[in-house]
Amino acid sequence: MVQGSVRVVQARRRQRQRRIERRVDARDPGPVDLDRQRRWIGIRIRIRIGIRIGIGIGIGIGIRIGIGLRIGGRVVTATVLDGKLVAALVKDEVRARTQALAARGVTVGLAVVLVGDDPASAVYVKAKTKDARECGIDATDHRLPADTSQAGLLALVARLGADPRVHGILVQLPLPKHFDTDAIIAAIPPHKDVDGLHPENLGRVAQGKPRFTACTPAGCMRLLAHGGVTVAGASAVVLGRSVLVGKPMALLLANADATVTLCHSKTRDLAERVAAADIVIAAVGRPELVRGAWIKPGAAVIDVGINRGADGKLIGDVEYAAAAARAGVITPVPGGVGPMTRACLLENTVRAAELTLG
Ligand code: GUN
Repeated sequence: MVQGSVRVVQARRRQRQRRIERRVDARDPGPVDLDRQRRWIGIRIRIRIGIRIGIGIGIGIGIRIGIGLRIGGRVVTATVLDGKLVAALVKDEVRARTQALAARGVTVGLAVVLVGDDPASAVYVKAKTKDARECGIDATDHRLPADTSQAGLLALVARLGADPRVHGILVQLPLPKHFDTDAIIAAIPPHKDVDGLHPENLGRVAQGKPRFTACTPAGCMRLLAHGGVTVAGASAVVLGRSVLVGKPMALLLANADATVTLCHSKTRDLAERVAAADIVIAAVGRPELVRGAWIKPGAAVIDVGINRGADGKLIGDVEYAAAAARAGVITPVPGGVGPMTRACLLENTVRAAELTLG
């Protein structure tokens, strides 16, 4: 009886080992770039607490606590793209340009419109106006109650559009549900649409002749450039097809000669597509949807997601630690794309003011 149960346990152990090997093989997308790897020698102490239910002579339940040591191994460590640092460089350039404009008698003006009291939007708007003021831009905050009518918001946009002191207008999204967002965005004069969302500005990006590029995708491109990522010829996967991020992002990558796959909620074989990508841009708003094991070794991973975890902490769309162990470069959340979005808004705003001088 006891010998029989030992044989069963051994057979199960062999089966489990075979299953693990099959899983590891399936996840491995190919040869690893050894140049990107750093050898690692270490000791891992692992405390395992488990409950084992066994049937031998009678039925027994026991708790197992074990400490195991593992020595040796290899990890791939990504270079972390510091969005705060790159944003600070962009802001320095913007400050110099606002000063040059001030010397010519032009004070750069940005109007930021917030409708309703969504707390996350309020935080973003506060950060945008603070950054703008730090760069010498005259940023004004326009707060409207959540029950503002479409006509009321259109009237404000028209007033700002006609005001020569205002060079850029940003209406923070999402708007409360009763608004026709497309109509509001279309009412912003294209030469003041520093958010790059007006159909004319999006169309110009599609033509490869951008005037204002949507801020988050522009920030992602800047981060890729800062990370020394070669976009031309790369295979890029964009997750998310929003007008705010995914679609303009795909266009910018294609304009830079990447081969682009735009994935979304109906995409089949997401893991395989990501595993084949040299560049991954995750913008779906689903915490850790992109698993670290999917990432091609050495790939560039840009995480646009900002999700709040159960513990209140911010987490991205990418399983960060596991992805960082495989990627070549990766952005953190927070401190990656977010500061770049704001910096690119300032860059668009100063450009809007420069364009008025011809
Ligand atoms: N909400 C989140 N990101 C953005 C952005 O880049 N622009 C606007 N207008 N709203 C947003």
